[in-house]
Amino acid sequence: MPLLSSIAVIGGGYVGLTTAACFAHLGHDVVCGDNDAEKVRSLSKGEVPVLEEGLPDLVAQGLASRRLRFVLGAAAAASTAEFVFLCVPTPQGANGAADLSIVEDVAREIAPVLHAGSVVVNKSTVPIGSTQLVERLLTEAGAMPGTIGVASNPEFLREGSAVRDFLEPHRVVIGCQETEVAVRVSELYRDLRAPILVTDAASAEMIKYASNAFLATKISFINAIANLCESVHADVREVALGMGYDPRIGFEFLHAGPGYGGSCFPKDVQALLYTADSVDYDFELLRSVHDVNQRQHDRIVAKIAAAAGDTLEGATIAVWGLTFKANTDDLRDSPALAIARRLLEGGARVRAYDPAAGERAAQIVAGLDVVADPYDACVDADVLTVLTEWDELRWLDFERVGGQMRTRHIVDARNLLDPAAMRQKSFVYDGVGR
Ligand code: UDX
Repeated sequence: MPLLSSIAVIGGGYVGLTTAACFAHLGHDVVCGDNDAEKVRSLSKGEVPVLEEGLPDLVAQGLASRRLRFVLGAAAAASTAEFVFLCVPTPQGANGAADLSIVEDVAREIAPVLHAGSVVVNKSTVPIGSTQLVERLLTEAGAMPGTIGVASNPEFLREGSAVRDFLEPHRVVIGCQETEVAVRVSELYRDLRAPILVTDAASAEMIKYASNAFLATKISFINAIANLCESVHADVREVALGMGYDPRIGFEFLHAGPGYGGSCFPKDVQALLYTADSVDYDFELLRSVHDVNQRQHDRIVAKIAAAAGDTLEGATIAVWGLTFKANTDDLRDSPALAIARRLLEGGARVRAYDPAAGERAAQIVAGLDVVADPYDACVDADVLTVLTEWDELRWLDFERVGGQMRTRHIVDARNLLDPAAMRQKSFVYDGVGR
C-alpha cells in the first residue's frame, strides 16, 4: 500500500482540482479548500465546472472512496494536512509582474494552523524567488521558524489534457533548499513512472517560466516562418513537417495560427520579461516573441478585411471558434475573442459559433451575435473565418456552408481545412503560411 499522506490543496480551479483528484487517485487522503462556497457545494456533489477529460470520473472516484473532500477556506483544509499545495491564481499585474496577493493572503491564513513538520508547496506559477517569500510570510504570520518546509513544484498541465499531464508527466520538478523536504514531496509522486528532478527553488521556478517561454517562442517562430512562407510561396505545414523529423526540433508546437493565448503563455511571458527588467537583463528575444504574437492578431484581421473587399465596414463575418484553443471552454486571453472584437470595431457584423463557450463569449464581447449552429453563423456572410481548431468544424457540409454565404471566402487562421478541397468547392481560401 503506498505511503498514505494527508494533502491539502488550496484552490479549486483546473490546476487545483486536477491536483486534488489525481493525488486522491494515487491513494493519498486529500482535502481541497476553496473560498467560493457555491463551488465547494457543487464540487462536494461531484459537479466539475471545468472541461477536463477524465476529471469528473476522478472526482467521483475520490468522493466515493472518501479520499477526496471539499471544504470552505484555506485554513479549514490546511489544518489537518502534512502537505499544503497552493494552487491559487497568480494573474498578471498591471506592470506585467505576477500578482501574488492571493498567495500572500493564503500563506497568512494557513500559517496559524500548520503543524510543525508540514510542508507548503507552491504549485501555482510564481515568480522566481517566491518560495522564499512564502517562507517569510509564514513566519511573519506565526509559523514557528524552521518548523515548516516550503517547496516549489510547478505544474505543467495543458488545459484540456490536465489529468493526463498530471498522471503521465514528462517530468516532476521539485525545488527546495532542504533536500529532506524535497524528498518527502517527491515521495507523493512515487507511483508515477516519471523522472523526478529535485533542485533548488529558484531553478524550479525558472524551469516553469523558461519552459512556457520556450513554447511561446516556438509558436512565434513558426508564425513568423508562416508569414515569410506566404511571400515565397512555401507551405508552412510542409515546412513544419520537414523540420519536425529532427528530434532536436520535434513536431509539436509548430502549428501556425492566430498567435498563442490562454491563461498561461501571455501571462508567463510578461512575468519573465518583468523579472528580466527588474534585474536589468535586456531580454529582447522574448520581447520579440511577444511582439510577433501581438502582430499575428493584426495579420489575421487584415486577411479577413482583404477577403471582405478591403473593408470591414458593413461586412458580415462568420466566426467559427472563440476559445483560446480547441477542447477547452476557456476564453481567457483568447486570440479568437481579440480578433472578433477587432472585427466589430472595424464596423463588421460578426456571427460567431463556438461548441463550448458561445454564450459566455456573448456576455464578454458587446455586439457579438452568437449562434448555436455553425451553419447559422454563415448566413449571408461575406467571409467565414476559422479562429479555433475544433475538430468538428473539419467535417461540416461545405456545399451547404457556401450555399448560405454571400461570397465564398474562407480565412482559415488555424490551417484546419484542406485548401484544395475548399477551392474545389469554389471557395477563395486563405490560410496562414500556405
Ligand atoms: C500551456 C503549457 O502547454 C502547459 O505546459 C502549461 O502548464 C500551461 O500553459 P495551455 O495554456 O493550456 O498550456 O495550452 P497550450 O496547449 O500550451 O496552448 C497555448 C496556446 O498556444 C493556445 O492559444 C494554442 O492555440 C497555441 N498554440 C499551441 C499554437 O498556436 N500553436 C501550437 O502549435 C501550439
